[in-house]
Amino acid sequence: MGDSVDDRAVTASSGLSGDSSGVMSVWDADPALGRVVLSVEQIAQRVAELGQAITRDYAGRPPLLVGVLKGAFIFLADLARKIGLPLELDFMAVSSYGTATKTSGVVRILKDLDIDLTGRHVLIVEDILDSGLTLSYLRNSLLARGPESLAVCSLLVKRAVAPRPHLEVAYVGFYIEPEFVVGYGLDVAERYRNLPDIRVYTAGEPV
Ligand code: IMP
Ligand code: MG
Repeated sequence: MGDSVDDRAVTASSGLSGDSSGVMSVWDADPALGRVVLSVEQIAQRVAELGQAITRDYAGRPPLLVGVLKGAFIFLADLARKIGLPLELDFMAVSSYGTATKTSGVVRILKDLDIDLTGRHVLIVEDILDSGLTLSYLRNSLLARGPESLAVCSLLVKRAVAPRPHLEVAYVGFYIEPEFVVGYGLDVAERYRNLPDIRVYTAGEPV
């Protein structure tokens, strides 16, 4: 009776995720990954600050967080739990990249929202703003649906190398250099989304 399912679950998880340096060493050995741009601690600290700011700004008018899949899924999960308000959540999936590390200039809606935006305070939660194409497209598309308000929260904003559409981003986690980065939800060809920190991807375009 002592060896309950719960006991085994605790043992199994402490053998794996309890040893976070063991998880990291898998990534440290990957030659496609470069330097750590943002550590686990830096990200957690900033996400908590963003959550506090959003909690303050949206008091009395609970937001509908619109997560942009797939890249924002981890950020959204962490951010939502740092917001002390009875919020709503919905998801959109868009594709602007295919598997390349440069923008294709095309945004496609792969999954649309379930919730009607009329009268709601919508906060788009995005992983990264690069050319700004994805966000400006999304912004216009959601504005046309009659929300009470619309704002953008992006974990990362790349310093622009080329002119990009003017976009008001109310909440920015970090400004980063214009390098291709992966981790904390961000991928290259669907890989590295579960890398716990954010690192430079150095291997060029995947096959
Ligand atoms: P934008 O349309 O050029 O602003 O690019 C936005 C989208 O491209 C993001 O939502 C990401 O999915 C993807 N993206 C842009 N830069 C990166 C990067 O450095 N790593 C991973 N994905 C990126
Ligand atoms: Mg994205």
